Amino acid sequence: MKTLVILSHPNIDDSRVNKRWKQELVQYPNEITIHELYKEYPNGKIDVEREQRLLEAHDHIILQFPLYWYSYPPLLKKWLDDVFTHGWAYGSRGKKLNRKKFGTAISIGDKEANYSPAGSITFTVDEVITPFKASIIHVGAIVLPYFAVFGSSFQASDEEINQSAKDYIDYIFKHK
Ligand SMILES: Cc1cc2nc3c(=O)[nH]c(=O)nc-3n(C[C@H](O)[C@H](O)[C@H](O)COP(=O)(O)O)c2cc1C
Repeated sequence: MKTLVILSHPNIDDSRVNKRWKQELVQYPNEITIHELYKEYPNGKIDVEREQRLLEAHDHIILQFPLYWYSYPPLLKKWLDDVFTHGWAYGSRGKKLNRKKFGTAISIGDKEANYSPAGSITFTVDEVITPFKASIIHVGAIVLPYFAVFGSSFQASDEEINQSAKDYIDYIFKHK
């Protein structure tokens, strides 16, 4: 079964990291389905049935996004609000995401050292993504470790970003 990557970047054409990661993902059309929310729904109106069918057809799902204010870009939040419905994702009859594996691939602007109790942000990435992890647990799915590249605003070199794209593919196949 293929891996589904839900890619949420409001302006990927101007992106360094997510655009490069996407270039790597498209090399694996038999293994990876790429679904770009901002391209599919430029007006923000999500086809809930279509998204639910897409999720039902995959057991390994990665949410890929740039970290914006320690959270997701807004269309990904709307996607979660709209698509993870009662009676489908949760509730006594909502079991469609049960035991599916969910990972995150996050580009993070700041330095890795700042995401620690002693760093300027004081929180770890694992703590920052608590709402995502709680949501996945709530629908009976499995939370995979996150994949991230740090310093993506300006510190990371082209070589580091190229390497992260290769590491991202390894991450996907390792957790399939
Ligand atoms: C609106 C906005 C909010 C951001 N918030 C954060 C943040 O909370 N923490 C952080 O480390 N970087 C933050 N950044 C930096 C982005 O994470 C960084 O620009 C992005 O990951 C780079 O990926 P890209 O090259 O694919 O666009 C923010 C950037 C924008 C535009």
